[in-house]
Amino acid sequence: MQLNRRDLLAKCAALGAITLAPSLSVAAATEGWLLSDNKARPATPAAELGPFYKRGAPNTAMLRGPNDPGMPLTVAGVVYNTRGEILPGAKLEIWQTDHTGHYDLQGYRYRSVLVADSAGKYDFSSVMPGHYPARVCQHIHYAVTATGHKPMVTQLYFASDPVFEGNPDKNYTKDPLITSRELVRPVMLKGDPQVMLASVNFEIVLEQA
Ligand SMILES: [Fe+2]
Repeated sequence: MQLNRRDLLAKCAALGAITLAPSLSVAAATEGWLLSDNKARPATPAAELGPFYKRGAPNTAMLRGPNDPGMPLTVAGVVYNTRGEILPGAKLEIWQTDHTGHYDLQGYRYRSVLVADSAGKYDFSSVMPGHYPARVCQHIHYAVTATGHKPMVTQLYFASDPVFEGNPDKNYTKDPLITSRELVRPVMLKGDPQVMLASVNFEIVLEQA
């Protein structure tokens, strides 16, 4: 009998035929192995649009002004479909609050329409969004479209959000609108204490239409 990939990896790890780095669980290694084999990816979980979407945002990767207060934030990722194919030209509408939790309803501050490049990549610079009374957690809204694929609306959350008390696995349900733990992303802090910068990776996976 041939073991499936998951069982094979678990058995190899148990018997010492494969050694996993301390940062890798068997489950994470299995997932990575499967991904590297067939590139199939689960679709990004959807989340609600919310009331603050506004059509017609500018195409800019720099959402923060030179003197804007708040923690500078960069977000980057790749747009794929569930077959693992990159989607150049995918359109990503993003919107968020400023660092104090206010949406710009008159203009287009902290709103943009991005287009994934020839490698399916997108990125933007902003500030870490604030909290606002109607929502528990900091978040950035996404509406993503690509030819031949189902449109997707979702939200990005931050594992560093104080609401999670350092343990998003346990506490992500404190915000009832967070539909999946997958949407809560690790935050990497860069720079030095005078100029700190938060960096987040958020890949998007669309389903074929
Ligand atoms: Fe929101």
